[in-house]
Amino acid sequence: MKRLVPALLAAAVLFGGMLALATPRSSLPPLAALPAVPIPANNPMSPEKLRLGRLLFFDARLSGDGSTSCASCHVAQLGWAHGDALARGYPGHRLWRNNPTVLNAAHYKRLMWDGTLDSLEAQARAAMQAPVEGNGKASMVEMRLRLVPEYVALFRQVFGTEWPQLDHVWQAIAAFERTLVSDPLLVPFDRYLAGDARALTPSARRGLALFEGKAGCLQCHNGAMASDQGFYALGVPRQPLFDSNALVQIAVRWQNRQRDVPRAVYRDLDEDLGRYYQTRDPRDIGKFRTPSLRELKYTAPYMHNGVFDTLREVVDLFDRGGGDVPNKSPLLKPLGLAEAEKNDLVAFLEALSMEQPLIMEAPRLPPTLPLGTCAEQACTPALAVRPVQGSTK
Ligand code: HEC
Ligand code: HEC
Repeated sequence: MKRLVPALLAAAVLFGGMLALATPRSSLPPLAALPAVPIPANNPMSPEKLRLGRLLFFDARLSGDGSTSCASCHVAQLGWAHGDALARGYPGHRLWRNNPTVLNAAHYKRLMWDGTLDSLEAQARAAMQAPVEGNGKASMVEMRLRLVPEYVALFRQVFGTEWPQLDHVWQAIAAFERTLVSDPLLVPFDRYLAGDARALTPSARRGLALFEGKAGCLQCHNGAMASDQGFYALGVPRQPLFDSNALVQIAVRWQNRQRDVPRAVYRDLDEDLGRYYQTRDPRDIGKFRTPSLRELKYTAPYMHNGVFDTLREVVDLFDRGGGDVPNKSPLLKPLGLAEAEKNDLVAFLEALSMEQPLIMEAPRLPPTLPLGTCAEQACTPALAVRPVQGSTK
């Protein structure tokens, strides 16, 4: 790690500090209600597409061995995230990062902890095809879907194609995800913004004042998502599983290898370099995207490496002014918060979550049937296994 961080860093910290000074606090976007979800022109919504997307989100047949669906890791009962510190992966694997929620993910401009991906469609494809997550081989998964008569009928209805095509799978899943958003009527802070002063407890109101003032949280957690979607290094403590769990160590080394980190480096590398993978700028080592603060009540543990189980531990880190890392944001300073102030901040953070989680039962999935059979008025014709040109990637 050390060899990757040249002396450039000192200059970078100085430069970052100047940038911060150049942004007066008053120009920060205020916390706000979520706007309508942006819908890309090339993937319009329709009720049938949403129905299909919901089925596919829960369908493990998209994964290599039929074991893992999006819903295996993004569990409705767990805030559409997962309670494991580091996400479980495809059977036999473990991942190196914490599971973020898919709730409100449609509002992010850049997805993933390091901002690698910029659309839900691309994300869904990456999730299901990555060897350590879905491990679904494109041509095989596509063939499977073609032997599910109800899918054949639904894809035809929604996309007008003769057979299900994988690109449409990602479109349908992304459309479904665009419906997974917080209900403002259930979020105390949204009701407060809409004019109901009593929606926040006195403690949460004091927490809001700290958040926007003395504690400096708004500098990075601003706008409707309570995220500026920028990238910062905070000096989050090391995840102990990086030192004690062989599967995690395999994941860390493999992920670095995948990202074309030079062999001489990845062999010794036991860290997650974060934003650096995209920019290759040593000043971005250890930076991660500012996450939304909505729905935290349901999405513990926290941080890119799931190292904190409670919001109180997160607040304690900021109170200390972050940890000790080379690229640490100059915006972090020891805050000197009193116990009661820390409790107030946590009360405010909790008021950014719905009072009840958004629960959705797994739908009944349509069966795979032999060629030439019918179910629910849909049939797979006898000649189903005909390659469709340009349909697999
Ligand atoms: C094996 C567990 C696992 C599976 C299966 C999985 N995910 Fe994820 N998901 C994760 C993890 C871990 C991340 C964060 C990875 C990172 O930042 O590198 C993530 C990130 C995401 C994000 C980005 C959220 C954000 O805050 O940027 C979305 C959206 C998402 N997943 C949706 C899906 C969809 C849709 C599927 C199915 C096609 C899926 N996931 C399957 C574990 C999983
Ligand atoms: C310099 C920008 C910055 C400031 C200031 C800041 N945060 Fe953050 N916050 C981040 C980033 C970046 C992360 C993710 C870091 C990581 O995982 O490595 C984060 C993570 C969090 C998380 C965990 C969310 C999750 O889903 O895991 C919470 C909670 C949080 N911050 C609350 C606060 C509070 C409260 C304050 C004020 C005391 C604050 N933040 C100040 C940038 C900032």
